[in-house]
Amino acid sequence: MHRTYQDKTVLITGASSGIGAEFARQLHAQGAQLILTARSVDRLRKVQAACPGSVVIPGDLTDPGFPARLHAIATGNGRQVDILINNAGYGYYGRFHKGDLTWQLNMIQLNIAALTDLTYRFLPQMLDRPEDGCGVINVASVAGFLPVPHFTVYAATKAYVMNFSQALWQELQGQGVTVTCLSPGFTRTNFQSVANGTGGRYFEQEPAAVVQSALKAFQRGRRLVVTGAFNKLAAVLMRLMPTGLMMKAAGRAMKRA
Ligand SMILES: NC(=O)c1ccc[n+]([C@@H]2O[C@H](COP(=O)([O-])OP(=O)(O)OC[C@H]3O[C@@H](n4cnc5c(N)ncnc54)[C@H](OP(=O)(O)O)[C@@H]3O)[C@@H](O)[C@H]2O)c1
Repeated sequence: MHRTYQDKTVLITGASSGIGAEFARQLHAQGAQLILTARSVDRLRKVQAACPGSVVIPGDLTDPGFPARLHAIATGNGRQVDILINNAGYGYYGRFHKGDLTWQLNMIQLNIAALTDLTYRFLPQMLDRPEDGCGVINVASVAGFLPVPHFTVYAATKAYVMNFSQALWQELQGQGVTVTCLSPGFTRTNFQSVANGTGGRYFEQEPAAVVQSALKAFQRGRRLVVTGAFNKLAAVLMRLMPTGLMMKAAGRAMKRA
């Protein structure tokens, strides 16, 4: 099935900046109706102004009760969400035991638990409408291909997102609903400053290119999309080369990040 975005209702988490805000802009341009969520109301309002007609539902996805409230508000008045984009997430560069524990546990809550919770809640309505081109885009990372020292918890959360999404893709085959896992590498957003890093410098992509690849992949019902030539090569190496060797190299790179 070749999916289109015209008149689709799309819920985007982490829509206040970076990749999520870019999803909003590109989907609005393609005729989608948007529901935007994140914590920062001011930044969400700016994205809303650029995407007239979109609905804003602010909230904190590290609050274990928020996914249920978000689902209830998003589907209120008989509204149906056609596409869920689980994009909200953050990372932390540094030694695991030197980092703040609450920060790292909240990362697991956001990157894993909220994403799983929202997928669980929105999927049944999508499966009821197999002709409507519904589905989920889950944002992982190339870091999910490997255990990454100095990016330890973050890389592990993204390995979960990759495995969860791809298994679900298989589980849903033939039922009209798809799940696409997006694995970008360094992308020019607020991610690096939030994660206490300095960025990838040479191989950083713009959010526009990342989102274009993701939207094309979802339209084609693809299971996984790794964006950018450098990240594609890195993903192949991480699969083919000995894990110990790759972990050492990745750990050195992350120490500098
Ligand atoms: N940039 C990269 O290099 C890179 C690479 C690979 C994967 N990714 C992934 O791409 C996704 C988007 O990140 P980005 O690069 O666009 O970074 P970003 O600019 O920092 O955006 C992160 C988004 O997540 C939201 N968010 C953070 N904590 C939240 C919470 N507790 N509850 C609800 N929303 C929350 C933020 O909004 P508020 O602060 O307003 O809540 C923001 O909208 C993440 O899953 C990230 O892991 C990024």
